[in-house]
Amino acid sequence: MANNNDIEGLLLGSRAKSMLSAKTQALLNEHIAMELEAAQIYKAMYSWLEYKGYIGAAHYMKLHYQEELEHMDKIYQYMLDRIALPKAPQVKPANNKFTSFREVIKKALDHEIYVEESYKKSLDKVWAEKDHTTFEFLQWYVQEQVDEVAGFSLILDRLDIAGNDSSAILLIDKEMGQREE
Ligand code: FEO
Repeated sequence: MANNNDIEGLLLGSRAKSMLSAKTQALLNEHIAMELEAAQIYKAMYSWLEYKGYIGAAHYMKLHYQEELEHMDKIYQYMLDRIALPKAPQVKPANNKFTSFREVIKKALDHEIYVEESYKKSLDKVWAEKDHTTFEFLQWYVQEQVDEVAGFSLILDRLDIAGNDSSAILLIDKEMGQREE
């Protein structure tokens, strides 16, 4: 029968060994940094939008900013649950100068497409490692990207329909202000 020392040793042993490979840990740390970078980008965007008077769009982007922080925290927690120590990332300052409301939305869309591609590449990598748990975890992010890309594409299409009609642009701004979560 195992004595207390044996049990303690077993527990310490299991804590010492992560269920994630070093490669997967590095990949997840990159995604943590990417989510924080996205949060910074949206923070700069909502600040510019509010500064320019697009209150509804600023509200929309502020919710997006908060969502990105939640995405980042979710990866932190996943790593901790898999007995891996996540890194606290440092990201460069985000650009906060834009020429138009449309430019902000176009840049947000481009960024979301870039993030989606990055998650898809990571899915390939963890699948190759037969890490099914991380594969399933990352699938949630790809689905999230589908929603985000669709959301920004729709706004961009509507802005293109509005063209230079300021009343139509302000209507889109107002609609964006109705986002609840
Ligand atoms: Fe967390 Fe917009 O991707």
